[in-house]
Amino acid sequence: MDPVRNPYAPGAGQRPPELAGRDGELDGFDVVLERVSRGRPERSLVLTGLRGVGKTVLLNAMRSAAVRRRWGTGKLEARPDIPLRRPLAAALHLALRELGPRQQDETAHVLGILKSFAMRDGGGRGGSSGSGRTAVRDRWQPGIDVPAVPGRADSGDIEIDLVELFTDIAGLAGDIGRGVAIFIDEMQDIGSDDVSALCAACHEISQQRLPLVVVGAGLPHLPAVLSASKSYSERLFRFARIDRLERDAADRALRTPARDEGADFDEAALGALYAATAGYPYFVQAYGKVAWDVAPASPITADDVKVAAPEAEAELAVGFFGSRYERATPAEREYLRAIADLSTSGSTSSATGAEGLTDGGVATSAIADLLGRKAQSLSPARDALIKKGLVYSGERGRIAFTVPHFGRYLLRQAPD
Ligand SMILES: Nc1ncnc2c1ncn2[C@@H]1O[C@H](COP(=O)(O)OP(=O)(O)OP(=O)(O)O)[C@@H](O)[C@H]1O
Ligand SMILES: [Mg+2]
Repeated sequence: MDPVRNPYAPGAGQRPPELAGRDGELDGFDVVLERVSRGRPERSLVLTGLRGVGKTVLLNAMRSAAVRRRWGTGKLEARPDIPLRRPLAAALHLALRELGPRQQDETAHVLGILKSFAMRDGGGRGGSSGSGRTAVRDRWQPGIDVPAVPGRADSGDIEIDLVELFTDIAGLAGDIGRGVAIFIDEMQDIGSDDVSALCAACHEISQQRLPLVVVGAGLPHLPAVLSASKSYSERLFRFARIDRLERDAADRALRTPARDEGADFDEAALGALYAATAGYPYFVQAYGKVAWDVAPASPITADDVKVAAPEAEAELAVGFFGSRYERATPAEREYLRAIADLSTSGSTSSATGAEGLTDGGVATSAIADLLGRKAQSLSPARDALIKKGLVYSGERGRIAFTVPHFGRYLLRQAPD
């Protein structure tokens, strides 16, 4: 069918034509916004899940919900080894701008505090250090066009500074009857001092019932990262596991956009697509896209899906799996293959629909046995893979792929 009208959108962070199966999370977030607006106690939300399940697009949808309420919003993507201070300052700057120019003096004052916060290099906890970077640092400007207000949020101790900054920003938002929401993607990549400071600041804000929320998204081990840094993080955040779509939601994700274009899928096609995608949103979009293109006419049939499958798999092999596999060194690839081998031999039933392969974890000791190495000598590969976001450790001594169906890709398609 006409490729120009193809509605599907495979790709990281690509807004899907139909955001299926996430009404519960979106409604829950609306309740959070409403309660926080009214000064009620409320935990903020943290979305966790595997690669490609739709955390980023859901985070973006939540941001839109906050914007609709005329809250000030900002978003950032955490990166390993990059201190939180500057990207967070940029997100907060955006949020303050969205709040608008009302009460100009107050806003300018808070912007000045934000500027001092941004310009302070974190010599202390959580900050960048190393005199080699001084020259670069000194030339950097946060792009906030008011004079810096020194003496607040600029101690260099990220925890103190964040508590002060959040208090002032949330106080300003509250004064004008609005709120601020900051969205942090890839939250598991925030350094430990920064995470701890962020939790402390959120804790303070929620105790004061001020209208500022931090909404995070990240890999399945994010709750463990947070609770390792502050034991009270479970009381601070509500963790929502974002998972593959149930059958009816997957059907809706495919069908609604097609119908909007005057086309449809027949029942057998939907069944075949669910068997192939297991309801993982990225796969749903990828298969939907190719199935649409190869189908000669509506409705799209199971035969069309069969014809589409090799091309869809080939595109996933490049765009979804390959781009990640390429980031692994030879030693890391050996480690990944060992996980894949062990997951196939495992007898756990296939909750993923991946023909006997599970995305559940394997024991790190089993990997060492398989590779004939000491567990300790494999730690660098494991740690590097965790840092690259390819694997995670949900519980001690176990390791799992963050990428659904990655084992199957490694065993069948990955280049050596
Ligand atoms: N609820 C949904 N319904 C239909 N399609 C969806 C849904 N959620 C996400 N998608 C699609 O799935 C793909 C992946 O979404 P997204 O990038 O948000 O995943 P992610 O969880 O952030 O992945 P990563 O961990 O790699 O960042 C996109 O193509 C998006 O359009
Ligand atoms: Mg994402």
